[in-house]
Amino acid sequence: MQVYLATYGCQANERDSETILGMLEQMGYRETKKEEEADLILLNTCSIREKAEQKVFSYLGTLKQYKQDKPGLVIGLCGCMAQETDMIKLIRRRAPQVDLVLGTHKLHRLPEMIRNVQGGLGFQWDQEETGEIVEALPAIRPYPFKALVNITYGCNNFCTYCIVPYVRGRERSRRLEDILSESRQRVAEGAVELMYLGQNVNAYGKTLKDESADNKGKEASFANLLYRAQEIKELERIRYMTSHPRDFGEDLIRAIADCPKVSRHIHLPVQSGSSRILRQMNRGYSREEYLALVERIRRQVPEAVFTTDIIVGFPGETDEDLQDTITLLDQVGFDSAFTFMYSPRQGTPAAKLAEQIPLREKKARLQAVMAAQAGNSLRLHQELLGQTLHVLAESWDNGVLSGRADGNQLIHFPGEASGVGAFHQVKVKEAQTWTLKGETHGQE
Ligand code: 5AD
Ligand code: SF4
Repeated sequence: MQVYLATYGCQANERDSETILGMLEQMGYRETKKEEEADLILLNTCSIREKAEQKVFSYLGTLKQYKQDKPGLVIGLCGCMAQETDMIKLIRRRAPQVDLVLGTHKLHRLPEMIRNVQGGLGFQWDQEETGEIVEALPAIRPYPFKALVNITYGCNNFCTYCIVPYVRGRERSRRLEDILSESRQRVAEGAVELMYLGQNVNAYGKTLKDESADNKGKEASFANLLYRAQEIKELERIRYMTSHPRDFGEDLIRAIADCPKVSRHIHLPVQSGSSRILRQMNRGYSREEYLALVERIRRQVPEAVFTTDIIVGFPGETDEDLQDTITLLDQVGFDSAFTFMYSPRQGTPAAKLAEQIPLREKKARLQAVMAAQAGNSLRLHQELLGQTLHVLAESWDNGVLSGRADGNQLIHFPGEASGVGAFHQVKVKEAQTWTLKGETHGQE
């Protein structure tokens, strides 16, 4: 039996897809990259912007034909879209070829639901929100040398534009010992880099304080997790995503400064440079507070490389607000920025605001922000010329290795295929907006 799995959206979904493939392997499935070979097609979906959802519906349209050609084919929808209120009704109406819809809370039920469909029990769905964390599910990971490790699930921030708290549920943290034992296991399997995942990693531990002895008090903080992970022998680099400016405390800055294995890349979504818009977004900080935080981090971690997320066209955003965003980009000097047009999400407070910005205007603002950022990226990359970076090679093509430096910059350099999965010292020779080119001084 073969499964075709399409993954949309963020790294949380990528990690869930590893678990899905792990569970399916235990059922006897093998992964295929060709839909026409599959007995099971699963879509692990994203709701963050409307575009992501449109993609899924148009893909479901093309799957109708596959189902007609192969009536035993099972089609399933999981991930964030599958958790949305009203999605069951919508899927039944618009995509009746879908056999099962499984929200984000009970991934472990997937095998049972597939068996139910195959057993003739008809359409299956489960959107129950349990808040429970199921440990020790199997996983199939695409890269042996790096691993994604969840530390928190859900989000309690309720930024007014964001659907995540509704589809991923309340914030909850895994037990420190569970995270550390998964980390050690991945390293024992050959991972040299770990990526700690959460919507807001620096809130890690907040929901654990009253639980078992090993998680009491200070023990379960993100800073402490970093100190503990730093001790794992053979582990070379620790990354994390995403941190929220509001919760970036002194203890975390100290931990990054103290732990050489912790990457100097800090993804710190600012969303807007206008304090007025930040208030409307319920981000919990002003422009000035964000800039002060960046300064504090730079004082203690001078090699810090910042990247960010920006939303343009939030309801009521004026030209002046947009200018505030552009000047903030210049002031901080982000290595790169993910820029998005605001997309109204049903059920979120911002979707109900008057003064929605027309699409044409949002497109123009996106262009303006992207152009400003491109200039900054190029300038920062040019400053790296002649420097030697510590790079984990992740892929190889035709004599060229590609990898990520400690600050997450993408760099290409000549090398052998056997260099994939190892760290290299690479001297920067050429700087472009999105990538660097370099020469190796040999494998470490
Ligand atoms: N519209 C546009 N961008 C959004 N993001 C989250 N919700 C929306 C939305 N409704 C962006 C934010 C966040 C990133 C993951 O996606 O910038 O940091
Ligand atoms: Fe969404 Fe804000 Fe939570 Fe990030 S912190 S997932 S933007 S609500």
